Amino acid sequence: MLKDKILVLDFGSQYTQLIARRVRENSVYSEIFPYNAPFEKILDFKPKGIILSGGPSSVYSKGSPIPDIKIFNLGIPILGICYGMQLMAHLLGGKVAKAAKREYGRAELIIDDDSDLFSGIAERPTPNAQRQAVVWMSHGDRIEKYPEGFISIAHTDNSPVAAMANKKKNFYALQFHPEVVHTEKGREIIKNFIFNICGSKPTWTMKSFIETAKHEIKEKVGNQRVVCGISGGVDSSVTAVLVHEAIGDALTCIFVDNGVLRHDEAKKVELMLKKSFHMKIKYVDASERFLKKLKGVKDPERKRKIIGNEFIRVFEDEAMKIMNVSFLAQGTLYPDVIESTSFKGPSATIKSHHNVGGLLKKMKLKLIEPLRELFKDEVRVLGRELGMPDETINRHPFPGPGLAIRCISDITKERLAILRKADVIVLDEIKKAGLYNKIWQVFAVLLPVKSVGVMGDERTYDNVIAVRAVTSVDGMTADWAQIPYEVLGRISNRIINEVKGVNRVVYDISSKPPSTIEWE
Ligand code: XMP
Repeated sequence: MLKDKILVLDFGSQYTQLIARRVRENSVYSEIFPYNAPFEKILDFKPKGIILSGGPSSVYSKGSPIPDIKIFNLGIPILGICYGMQLMAHLLGGKVAKAAKREYGRAELIIDDDSDLFSGIAERPTPNAQRQAVVWMSHGDRIEKYPEGFISIAHTDNSPVAAMANKKKNFYALQFHPEVVHTEKGREIIKNFIFNICGSKPTWTMKSFIETAKHEIKEKVGNQRVVCGISGGVDSSVTAVLVHEAIGDALTCIFVDNGVLRHDEAKKVELMLKKSFHMKIKYVDASERFLKKLKGVKDPERKRKIIGNEFIRVFEDEAMKIMNVSFLAQGTLYPDVIESTSFKGPSATIKSHHNVGGLLKKMKLKLIEPLRELFKDEVRVLGRELGMPDETINRHPFPGPGLAIRCISDITKERLAILRKADVIVLDEIKKAGLYNKIWQVFAVLLPVKSVGVMGDERTYDNVIAVRAVTSVDGMTADWAQIPYEVLGRISNRIINEVKGVNRVVYDISSKPPSTIEWE
């Protein structure tokens, strides 16, 4: 597909993904490559411009990341951000040095030239006053001397060169971070770069994405068949609908009931995909199989492994029954792709996530991953564009091991029934209070503790439910949600009154880190 593209080279900044998202928000396609991507790969990508991200290194440290210098001879605009700026100065003949005073956080940028990158960013409050803008800094090094051909286009009290440009070559560089929301006019600065300086056109729309993706899926699949494991989550549902749009009944979705689903989960998913989208869904009730394997298992990692392995077995059995299957469709997202190609390498295993990818080795299926270029919020936009209901699109994430990791310690049918009932009440009250879409996840956890209570003058000795609600952007870090006391009160009252076997409700007020979102 012909589209204007901006390439982001990653030097390890925690904000690299944000840069790509800011570009895409303007309907211009953007991808992230590691800083050491081969020059041929960069050429192949045919970018209209390149953005060099920030990063934790200093250009003078041993082993600091350096890109292929030939990028500066491509004749296309380049924007360096923070480390990217220092790198540009360092590689093109300027001088970078430790700043006497490190700058973190808010700074007042004084704009010395607003003819291109800073066009329309700040008005003069009075005819003779300076143009100023609030920006977000995070750096220890600074530019002491800019390279030949460059001029300074903005400064702050601490950085005589807070932004520089070589207008002949269309090289620009910023000491601050335009991609973070705290840089008030950051979005406009990025817009100026991609449209006015790179000359990109806003051609990246969901409609165009859908058309291209459908075409590619059709071409790839030919007259073969595809299976897709669906869980009811956003990613797998959107994948299924998109693939179905492309190849219709050559797709079979497989929904495995693993016995640790939420109340009515299977029914809801079936209703949405079968009734609204007329898709073929194979519903497999494997609950007894899973629960038998989980009997007496208390250890969280063992629970996760058992469920992951059993899922593969059940899925494999079912997929084998469908003739001529050569492909497995799955909802891999762009952050997973970046993570697995990042030069930083994989992070330590905190929990074994269960992933359908494990199927491939055994089944020799080829993969179809139509969402692998998209961020989560873009998947939601795509789902809406495909006509999927808001209820599916805005669903909170639900882990593969399901209620097994929220039913702490022993998993029994009785304990699962208590947990399911409590969970329904939690979700119901949160939705009624209008909080569902403001929270990343909210759920009940059944603790392996009994406590004493008094109900109608009688002593009780019953279960404890913990309520967990967190706010988060990506699930990597999270904070406990500040749910109003009245809502917590209603949740507690209803659970204790309506769920037999529970006489106490507690609220989890831990952030991630150091806790995690799920309890196991
Ligand atoms: P933690 O508990 O690690 O969870 O803070 C982060 C996010 O991931 C979800 N989660 C999982 N999702 N398979 C999944 O698909 C899993 O095994 C799994 N474990 C945790 C969790 O619900 C939260 O959104």
